[in-house]
Amino acid sequence: MASGMCASTVVLLAMVPRGGHIVTTTDCYKETRMFIETFLPKLGITPTLIDASDIAGLQAIVNNHEVSMFFTESPTNPFLRCVDIKLVSEICHKRGTLVCIDGTIATPLNQKALALGADLVIQSATKYIGGHNDVLAGCISGSMKLVSEIRIMHNLLGGTLSPKAAYLLIWGIKTMHLRVKQQNSTTLRMARVLEAHPKVFYTPSVSLSAISGRKLMLPLLLPRATTGRVYYPGLPSHPEHHIAKRKMTYFGGLVTFETTIKFIDSLKIPYIATSFGGCESFVDQPAARNWDVPRDERLKYGLKDNLVRFSFGVEDFDDLKADILQALDTIPTKTSLYSHQNGVVSDKN
Ligand SMILES: *Cc1c(COP(=O)(O)O)cnc(C)c1O
Ligand SMILES: *[C@@H]1O[C@H](CO)[C@@H](O)[C@H](O)[C@H]1NC(C)=O
Repeated sequence: MASGMCASTVVLLAMVPRGGHIVTTTDCYKETRMFIETFLPKLGITPTLIDASDIAGLQAIVNNHEVSMFFTESPTNPFLRCVDIKLVSEICHKRGTLVCIDGTIATPLNQKALALGADLVIQSATKYIGGHNDVLAGCISGSMKLVSEIRIMHNLLGGTLSPKAAYLLIWGIKTMHLRVKQQNSTTLRMARVLEAHPKVFYTPSVSLSAISGRKLMLPLLLPRATTGRVYYPGLPSHPEHHIAKRKMTYFGGLVTFETTIKFIDSLKIPYIATSFGGCESFVDQPAARNWDVPRDERLKYGLKDNLVRFSFGVEDFDDLKADILQALDTIPTKTSLYSHQNGVVSDKN
């Protein structure tokens, strides 16, 4: 398909009937969430959002409603939450609910969602499958029966892969196993370094709107010793590390963590860009990418201004490590208040 978004929207339009019910997770790729939350309701489709680990919640929803599909990423973007695909598939299948996993972040090498019980898997091939940040593509896998139904919707809507994009995918996919292995290694090693680093901060957001009557958020920076957060399924501190260990071969090349945004500007190797999964490292500030979402709303999804998502490429580990450490070093030790210089994203951006 022409893109990952084409794959997810075609699956949803083909598989969820008018008046249907769909369950998805709160942590989710932004455009997918927009489609589910703002477009599907126009077709009379009800979305329910649950936390990735809320198995009891999923059970209650599928038992009490006729749910057409449980649609989720695993790992999710940007917090890399992992869903127990085997367990959710068992729960959903008892009630005739389809399970569709967006496995983009895992890659098809890392996670065999169909073998674990999912009915459908989608991939944004724009990321690791293409692997060179030069092509948009997507794909859908599943049984012949389901894919044939989906193919009809795909033909109706268009979104066909161009020959040039297909050619770039044929090039890119040849090295996917090498890239993914290297990215796993670099990312796990760097995630451990970051988790132990004093400049990786935990910043609880304190809303002063009640006091001042204005929408003013004042996040306080506390040293990592309090509760530093690095979100990576390969770290024992990750809430679904036990699930990731069971279902994933590698833990992937994305890591999300909290620091100050000065960090991003001090980096020399990665591009500041929103995509991921290519040979070049990318760094991204999810709050800036969601500038059109009011801050209170962003915070509901945990998208603090100082959240950083790093996609490791295939550059030399020591070069990347040196670059990240020098960028962390530029953050003053006694950062106590969060200022505009540190990259607060205004609602009026
Ligand atoms: C990038 C991405 C998409 C959308 O893919 P495009 O190819 O950019 O349209 C969907 N889901 C996830 C998890 C992604 O990372
Ligand atoms: C992933 O990388 C880590 C760190 O280098 C390594 O210990 C581990 O063996 C790698 N995993 C696989 C499956 O290669």
